[in-house]
Amino acid sequence: MNGTSGIEVEVAGLKLRTPLIACSGCAGFGSELKRIGALEGLGALCLKGLTLEPRSGNTPPRLWEMPSGLLNSIGLENPGAQKVLGEILPGLDLGIPLIANIAGNTYEEFARLAYLLDSVPVEAIEVNVSCPNVEEGGRIFGADPESVYKTVSLVRGSTRKKLFVKLSVACQDVADVAMAAEEAGADALSLINTVPAMAIDPITLKPALGNVSGGLSGPAIKPIALLAVWKVYRVTRLPIIGMGGVATAQDVLEFMAAGASCVGLGSQLLRDPYSPARIAGELVELRKRLNKDQLKEIVGCAHGGTSGSTGCGSRGRGPRSGTACT
Ligand SMILES: Cc1cc2nc3c(=O)[nH]c(=O)nc-3n(C[C@H](O)[C@H](O)[C@H](O)COP(=O)(O)O)c2cc1C
Repeated sequence: MNGTSGIEVEVAGLKLRTPLIACSGCAGFGSELKRIGALEGLGALCLKGLTLEPRSGNTPPRLWEMPSGLLNSIGLENPGAQKVLGEILPGLDLGIPLIANIAGNTYEEFARLAYLLDSVPVEAIEVNVSCPNVEEGGRIFGADPESVYKTVSLVRGSTRKKLFVKLSVACQDVADVAMAAEEAGADALSLINTVPAMAIDPITLKPALGNVSGGLSGPAIKPIALLAVWKVYRVTRLPIIGMGGVATAQDVLEFMAAGASCVGLGSQLLRDPYSPARIAGELVELRKRLNKDQLKEIVGCAHGGTSGSTGCGSRGRGPRSGTACT
């Protein structure tokens, strides 16, 4: 990559040299990427999901690769807040903004984690509402607008950091959930998390994952993620970090056209950790070809009409188009 001119973006006040963020869970705490010289091209890095107590994760097998994508049931394996905040974060010097990612079993745990992160050098906190709420029967926090509103309000009251709320499509309506997050004080929305799925081992004819169900990521979920970004762009005014199957510079353009201010790279980083530099270089070229001074000028341009027309649609509590039944 030679320079990032014209592809810089700003998300909720965070200045990113490129619109590419390493997704939570796909880059650990960034030290491996740094060691192999693969941070070039990334605008920011989202750290592995953090829980209050250490977690050893789900029963193996926890990864299952398919032609269409990757199925995982890692189960939020991480060393816990004390070790991450006391030992890992202080020694991290990646040279790009860091975003913490938190997951709680209860509302109180989310608030506690946000409070603990208030005094550490991360630029923002991503709130992963795709984890089960043990107080309310194990339904995920992100399943309905009410529990998202409650979670985000409590977190908002516990930290001064920027808050990114990470949404799942495993909910009643992602647009409603997004509006609840905005009302509760989110600064940006990350979407989407993995999609609930399973695989059968073709040899044993048993579930391929030790946990039976897992989360699907990669190319298979890109159209699902694009629709979620499209819908959320129309009903909120928050910046969107679009993710789900981004693997090429063309994918980045499509997510930005649907309304994302920047994108997350997840499974693609596991496939090729050096890809951010390549994608960023291609984005510089594509920006020139599109005749734009700044790549960010294309954000939301898909809303200006159908294929072939130009211009960006207005946003925020607008009509909910794109929701028709098939
Ligand atoms: C192995 C793996 C681990 C993940 N761990 C987390 C996590 O800890 N917290 C989180 O919010 N999302 C996690 N995710 C979801 C990703 O951050 C991302 O939302 C999802 O994979 C979709 O992007 P992709 O299709 O580019 O991979 C994980 C995904 C994978 C594949």
